[in-house]
Amino acid sequence: MEPCQPTWLHVCDVNAIPRLGSRVLTHSSGDIALFRTESDSVFALRDQCPHKGGALSQGIVHGEKVTCPLHAWNLDLRTGEACAPDVGCAQRFPVRIDAGEVYLSFDETGRDDAAETGGPADVADGVTV
Ligand code: FES
Repeated sequence: MEPCQPTWLHVCDVNAIPRLGSRVLTHSSGDIALFRTESDSVFALRDQCPHKGGALSQGIVHGEKVTCPLHAWNLDLRTGEACAPDVGCAQRFPVRIDAGEVYLSFDETGRDDAAETGGPADVADGVTV
């Protein structure tokens, strides 16, 4: 019997996410923030700060971290963990980029590391899952 493969859901073109910014995916389980770093890595976290629920998508992306807009906690985009001395974790979702298109997995079996962008691609509008 083969091991379970992650299910990848196409969400948008990578260029639909602003560099050093974010884009929100509306999902029945709650909003998910997709972040794009300066080096074009893409990460996905639940759009809810583990402190008091601030919208992480409104935060400032720097390096591989995002600073929450409400009380300035820093979260590691790779893990969703708050940086010390703060303690907490935002749910992380595996991301994959293929030919400039962003795919998200809701499975725990997805790839752990950041997705690197491919070549140029068209900007897509719809990011509602
Ligand atoms: S709600 Fe994010 S730091 Fe307080």
